[in-house]
Amino acid sequence: MTATRGLEGIVATTSSISSIIDDTLTYVGYNIDDLAEHASFEEVIYLLWHRRLPTKAELDEIKKDLAENAELPKEVLDHFKTYPIKQVHPMAALRTAVSLLGLFDPEADEMTEEANYRKAIRLQAKIPTIVTAFSRIRKGLEPVAPRKDLSFAANFLYMLTGNEPDEIAVEAFNKALVLHADHELNASTFTARVCVATLSDVYSGITSAIGALKGPLHGGANEQVMKMLTEIGSIENVEPYIHNKLNNKEKIMGFGHRVYRKGDPRAKHLRKMSEKLTKLTGEPHWYDMSTKIEEIVTSEKGLPPNVDFYSASVYHSLGIDHDLFTPIFAVSRVSGWLAHILEQYANNRLIRPRAEYTGPGKQQYVPIEQRG
Ligand code: COA
Repeated sequence: MTATRGLEGIVATTSSISSIIDDTLTYVGYNIDDLAEHASFEEVIYLLWHRRLPTKAELDEIKKDLAENAELPKEVLDHFKTYPIKQVHPMAALRTAVSLLGLFDPEADEMTEEANYRKAIRLQAKIPTIVTAFSRIRKGLEPVAPRKDLSFAANFLYMLTGNEPDEIAVEAFNKALVLHADHELNASTFTARVCVATLSDVYSGITSAIGALKGPLHGGANEQVMKMLTEIGSIENVEPYIHNKLNNKEKIMGFGHRVYRKGDPRAKHLRKMSEKLTKLTGEPHWYDMSTKIEEIVTSEKGLPPNVDFYSASVYHSLGIDHDLFTPIFAVSRVSGWLAHILEQYANNRLIRPRAEYTGPGKQQYVPIEQRG
């Protein structure tokens, strides 16, 4: 038995949800470029869960279901107030709150297809409310209740700030949600599938996935990108800063990918949005610094930017706190996790690979009194 480090190149399951072939990403056969330009995030949720685009009536129905399930149990809101709020990262708060949410769902362990679909709706609807409520409570503000008349993207920004967002912000945020919704067998999706393949419940699967997304090599990278841009501070500092990192063999967050070679097809959309939004907010230096970093890392390391690189300056331009960038990734990616969880249940087999043993050979047990 020989191990493959990081399971690189291993095909671990079949799936009809999304595919990456020749650096092209599709959801159920629809090119991500088309969806980013034309689709609402609600349409994409429907597409991932049903493997076809909705009719107008079906879209209205899923929108209504999401809107009606967005409120949180009072116990979950109250629970935030017991956290050591200044030291809690919002991803840790989200992970705990999703687990807690399961305790208040009487259907949490009901494993029929219908009950699991109802839980998918509840989780998709409530995760934005968790992220925005936590963000407000830690600032000493009251949470803003979800509104039923707003789109998914608009409602998130509304619950975050208490103000109805403008059209440009909604369009940008919707596009970011569409681009992050699913990504084949990425680390957090694989985590979710491994968890529920034991026939554990949906809440456990999503809690596990949030834990995997939190790491800086996965979803946590977008927050680290903004940290790097802030540290660099101005365009003149880009070259020495990046060269110093590369010379020290440190990774540049937001670059590289396990699967893409020529480039991440999502990055160009975020790059365009970053250019537009940073100009509109009067802070074009974030975009200028980002393109300069891209120039250096691409030419010196041959590594193109991934989805996290330009999403950092996009979210910053929307006025979003930097430590909420990864929870926002979860607000979108939960749609993909849920699609994969439902797919796993529908054709389940326990996921249990092997390990190549590298420890000592046969040893003789020595009673404790005789050990030196
Ligand atoms: N900056 C600098 N060098 C990088 C790099 C980066 N962002 N990403 C990969 N490399 C280098 C590694 O140092 C390694 O070089 P070596 O062979 O000389 O040791 C080589 O490229 C392979 O990297 P490795 O970490 O083994 O690739 P991977 O397929 O396991 O990892 C990522 C993929 C995404 C985890 C990796 O590219 C990375 O850590 N990127 C930064 C974090 C990030 O943006 N994550 C979000 C992904 S969407």
